[in-house]
Amino acid sequence: MAEKKIIAVVGATGAQGGGLVRAILSDASSAFTPRALTRDVNSDRAKELAKLGAEVVAADVDDVESLKRAFKGACGAFCVTFFWAHFSPEKELAEAKAMAEAAKHAGIQHVIWSTLEDTRKWVPLSDSRMPTLMGKYKVPHFDAKGEANQVFTELGLPTTFLLTSFYWENLIYFGMGPKKGPDGKLAITLPMGDKKLPGIAAEDIGKCAYGIFKKGREFIGKTVGIAGEHLTGAQMAAALTKALGQEVRYNDVPPEVYRSFGFPGAEDLGNMFQFKRDFEQVFCGARNLDVARALDPSLQTFDRWLAQHKSRIPLE
Ligand SMILES: NC(=O)c1ccc[n+]([C@@H]2O[C@H](COP(=O)([O-])OP(=O)(O)OC[C@H]3O[C@@H](n4cnc5c(N)ncnc54)[C@H](OP(=O)(O)O)[C@@H]3O)[C@@H](O)[C@H]2O)c1
Repeated sequence: MAEKKIIAVVGATGAQGGGLVRAILSDASSAFTPRALTRDVNSDRAKELAKLGAEVVAADVDDVESLKRAFKGACGAFCVTFFWAHFSPEKELAEAKAMAEAAKHAGIQHVIWSTLEDTRKWVPLSDSRMPTLMGKYKVPHFDAKGEANQVFTELGLPTTFLLTSFYWENLIYFGMGPKKGPDGKLAITLPMGDKKLPGIAAEDIGKCAYGIFKKGREFIGKTVGIAGEHLTGAQMAAALTKALGQEVRYNDVPPEVYRSFGFPGAEDLGNMFQFKRDFEQVFCGARNLDVARALDPSLQTFDRWLAQHKSRIPLE
């Protein structure tokens, strides 16, 4: 049997990278084998990946030399940054540069860069419909990822730009699940009006990334947007009502109200939802469900995701 080609996976102990590592390992006939990058090879999550059969190596996206070592000998690299670990778009850009530099150094043949839109292309800083944040961003955790696309392009790296979507896991981990209002009824609060929010099971991002690596050259130089479904807030609330067996309403608030909620990142997320609301056709149009399903035939719908995960959604 031919030797398997290594795919180096950044964020392997996390949502996106973890999904990719598991997708490769669950395909016994795969031409690839995953190399899981982590800052701590002794963590429970890292050990779990090793137990599943992944090679686990130490690397930190803030340390380019560690990335060079970790990418050495690999044929593919999955690159992702961790905005919510530090809330700094400048740091994200620096991390993207470090990964791109390491990929170039290692001669990586296919990079997948997990990116998002630079919203400033649609909402320039001079546009007053949403506030400018951190001096030069509209949606900081989007804009720096989009800006970083050119880092990969300029180095001439064979890259696929993967546009991800809102994880439905945000209902579990990110405090976005249903909460009781003053009337005692459960509601999800999103400033989306009647517009659709592309969402996805986080595990499916890694599965789609695996699909892209399997297709090889076909997706190099391309931007691929993925989602499991495009749903309005009302449709999400209806699905939650059905799955949880109790009424969940959709609390549609204006973006300015969402921005004022005061939790860390509220302004960034308020602007993000407003961008998705005001540019629904652009945003949904960039995330084709058929493309995602072709890459990941087991792509989950929201109903299917809920059937499996509803008990993990914290309810007050
Ligand atoms: N939540 C959403 O709806 C959503 C949607 C689209 C895109 N995103 C984007 O997804 C990105 C995060 O990806 P994710 O959700 O897969 O992450 P995650 O689940 O939070 O996992 C992050 C993993 O990355 C590793 N990590 C953190 N800092 C690191 C560093 N300096 N060097 C190396 N590894 C590091 C950690 O592993 P170790 O501790 O093992 O090192 C951790 O397990 C964010 O930038 C976010 O903007 C999120």
